[in-house]
Amino acid sequence: MQRRQFLQTAAAGAGLLILPSGTIFGANAPSNKLNIALVGAHGRATAHYDGLAGENVVALCDVDEKHLDLASEKFPKAKRYVDWRKCLEQKHLDAVVCCTTDHTHAFVANWALNRGLHVYCEKPLGNCVEEARIVRATYLKNKSKLATQVGTQRHAYENFNRVRELILDGAIGELKEACAWGNRQIRRPGYLPPEGKPPKTLHYDLWIGPSPMHPYNPGYFSGQPGANCLQWNMYWDFGTGQIGDMGSHTMDLAWNALDAGLPTAAEATGDAFNPEVTPVELKMTFQIPANEWRPAIPVTWYQGGAMPDSPIDCIDLKKIGHGAMFKGSKGFLVADFERRILLPNEEGADMTYYNRRPGEKLLPPIHHFQKEWFNACKGDLKTSCDFDYNGRMIEMMLLGLAAYRAGKALEYDGANGRVTNDAGADKFLRRDYRKGWTLNG
Ligand SMILES: NC(=O)c1ccc[n+]([C@@H]2O[C@H](COP(=O)([O-])OP(=O)(O)OC[C@H]3O[C@@H](n4cnc5c(N)ncnc54)[C@H](O)[C@@H]3O)[C@@H](O)[C@H]2O)c1
Repeated sequence: MQRRQFLQTAAAGAGLLILPSGTIFGANAPSNKLNIALVGAHGRATAHYDGLAGENVVALCDVDEKHLDLASEKFPKAKRYVDWRKCLEQKHLDAVVCCTTDHTHAFVANWALNRGLHVYCEKPLGNCVEEARIVRATYLKNKSKLATQVGTQRHAYENFNRVRELILDGAIGELKEACAWGNRQIRRPGYLPPEGKPPKTLHYDLWIGPSPMHPYNPGYFSGQPGANCLQWNMYWDFGTGQIGDMGSHTMDLAWNALDAGLPTAAEATGDAFNPEVTPVELKMTFQIPANEWRPAIPVTWYQGGAMPDSPIDCIDLKKIGHGAMFKGSKGFLVADFERRILLPNEEGADMTYYNRRPGEKLLPPIHHFQKEWFNACKGDLKTSCDFDYNGRMIEMMLLGLAAYRAGKALEYDGANGRVTNDAGADKFLRRDYRKGWTLNG
């Protein structure tokens, strides 16, 4: 009998949990730490260092050896890699934290799940509808064994729960519409021109990874650590602009209160199409099917200057940089990440329609978002932003980008991931990869 099989059989009767590495958790477990590979080891990853320090970081992967050096100072015992495909071959891993460029997220996440590893993936989960769908499908196949979390850590703000409770408890009556918006605007004319050679420490070909080759320019690497994504995420081959950037966080504020499935239709208008750069100004509207507690509703995303109308003159929505608004039969709810405003329609609204929940029924706090995932890996596998919840949300947003590119409203069969009213638009649901790169490896 293989060691892992033996351990699993033995543990089944003992109420223990065995991680992919063979590490045993339980009352008498020899260790309760996860063996983690950190892929994309600097920049955003530094925000994870403190949490990771409580686990075993056994592998570090970064395409820039200078960044590997910096990460090694924090995790000196970890093995080092420049190619995440090799890193994922390391034996006795339990989990992967992925903080690479957006255009590699779905690859790293999917390969890791296929190798039986828990995954925390920085947002966005994918750069096109097909990527979001494949990673979600792989997760759903492994849901009984693996814990996943998308890096939308603002989800742990208590306001997310309070907004959800207000909507579910009828504070604005029956939900009729929802929207979210973001005001970030980073305009670029096109890919950067060739300039100089990559430094010896940077494995540029691996940085390009599955995307089409673009010449090196130091500008792609000129941002502050943790904000360098703003140097490349607006280019189609590397990111999805504000959809994957603030859109991942801000639509989450609305999505958390909708219990939504995939949209049946999407339409989008915005800046004139640029084949190199994603649009700055954009409005996308989705038709979301009814569920057991609300009717079918439109959900809209606004960015880069596009904004919803304010329900009341004295509230200037433009002063809320990143926000969400819900329209119900009895009023409106406006929220940013940390606060909310309730606006009944009627001057004398007595709010008797609001079925306010008692204190003991309030949704429990999430506390530390990353620790929620560590605990899930070691316990019940449940997280608040798993690849199903967030995968559906980003699939919707990326369908909007497909509608923008198609230049028309698209009808969508979410069960099969197909556009049903324009066969030609299906091509906007996926990306072409460089030879040698496989998403489902
Ligand atoms: N959750 C948040 O609030 C938040 C905040 C900032 C960034 N992010 C996300 O984190 C990710 C990284 O952003 P960043 O600003 O740190 O970017 P970055 O360009 O600094 O890249 C991060 C690190 O990954 C390395 N890297 C890039 N491609 C790699 C690859 N294929 N394999 C291994 N290493 C690779 C880089 O060398 C760098 O050390 C982005 O996807 C971004 O959306 C999330």
